[in-house]
Amino acid sequence: MPADIEDEIKDEKNPRPLDEDDIALLKTYGLGPYSTSIKKAEKEIKEMAKKINDLCGIKESDTGLAAPSQWDLVSDKQMMQEEQPLQVARCTKIINPNTDDAKYVINVKQIAKFVVGLGDKVSPTDIEEGMRVGVDRNKYQIQIPLPPKIDPSVTMMTVEEKPDVTYNDVGGCKEQIEKMREVVELPMLHPEKFVKLGIDPPKGVLCYGPPGTGKTLLARAVANRTDACFIRVIGSELVQKYVGEGARMVRELFQMARSKKACIVFFDEVDAIGGARFDDGVGGDNEVQRTMLEIVNQLDGFDARGNIKVLMATNRPDTLDPALLRPGRLDRKVEFGLPDLESRTQIFKIHTRTMNCERDIRFELLARLCPNSTGADIRSVCTEAGMFAIRARRKTVTEKDFLDAVNKVIKGYQKFSATPKYMVYN
Ligand SMILES: Nc1ncnc2c1ncn2[C@@H]1O[C@H](COP(=O)(O)OP(=O)(O)OP(=O)(O)O)[C@@H](O)[C@H]1O
Ligand SMILES: [Mg+2]
Repeated sequence: MPADIEDEIKDEKNPRPLDEDDIALLKTYGLGPYSTSIKKAEKEIKEMAKKINDLCGIKESDTGLAAPSQWDLVSDKQMMQEEQPLQVARCTKIINPNTDDAKYVINVKQIAKFVVGLGDKVSPTDIEEGMRVGVDRNKYQIQIPLPPKIDPSVTMMTVEEKPDVTYNDVGGCKEQIEKMREVVELPMLHPEKFVKLGIDPPKGVLCYGPPGTGKTLLARAVANRTDACFIRVIGSELVQKYVGEGARMVRELFQMARSKKACIVFFDEVDAIGGARFDDGVGGDNEVQRTMLEIVNQLDGFDARGNIKVLMATNRPDTLDPALLRPGRLDRKVEFGLPDLESRTQIFKIHTRTMNCERDIRFELLARLCPNSTGADIRSVCTEAGMFAIRARRKTVTEKDFLDAVNKVIKGYQKFSATPKYMVYN
């Protein structure tokens, strides 16, 4: 074998380390001829834009207006002149539908009924019988299809921003989480399983238990996890001044829910409206009961409810009307009891996660010291421990702070604790 080849083989076995020049060369691989100058220019542009923004100050976020330099008042004025305000009407009937000379019967409130055509900007497929439409004021031509009228206070109940609570923030409650997910997530993610077996998925869940055991918390975690639209209703919001208003709100709520692809409706503190029916002896029937009956009615759903799941939460399941609770309306009832030792330890850990604590605090010992306390109590203990640390001008919370806090919260507040009282109801 020639000597130089032998040398090469030796070289391959223990290769020479790359020196600075080689690395610089390697770095230029894959770069175009102008890469560096383009990068530099981009950076300069970015810096310049930032400088300009800083100088003129962006106020869009404050006022909702664009920067004055982007205003186009002339064309805006022109547009306002061209586009007249429309009138709201209802399209009651379509004559000769699906043909070229289709005509539309519209009913303008308090004026008259007209037979009209379509404006230039709407297509015949957009208009259906019974729809609300916008018509112009001269020829009453249909100019725009309008969405169904839904009370803005109902629209406001949709939870748009996902709460930042996840299942990990719920200590214990393993069983409850499992049951809830079965009802809420399974039918939405795997509808075919239910079709195959030929059963209807459960429609709703009632969560009940003493105050502060995490019912609202779990519902928030569900809202965080799901991509479905989440509507949160507080029971008392549905109690209205005028007769029939509450029932109408419930109807519109479900109407809105039905228009979504998938939707979860969460009634919190449902005992505000779901109380059992009674005769008040005066003969006047109760508006609150009527609202509840509308919920019952909507739960049955004369028309299929589609992908709507109903969650309810209450402290007093015994006061609810039996009609609301019967299987077929709310199939599942999930009890939120007091957390056991392991759950309490976990809840302690969850609430101290963001706190600046000493290293090895014996959370299990702390959990042992708070028998019969709820998640909310434990959270209060953690907050109090922090307060003790602040009072002593320390930057970390020690175990002693926690022990003091347990003494203060659990022992001191026993008078106010309603948990035993509520345990009787559940
Ligand atoms: N299992 C738990 N894990 C972690 N934190 C909990 C738990 N249970 C309660 N908490 C804490 O207690 C607080 C109050 O709980 P939540 O609002 O869920 O009570 P609730 O059951 O809805 O009570 P109410 O019936 O009075 O509305 C929560 O914000 C949370 O910080
Ligand atoms: Mg609650």
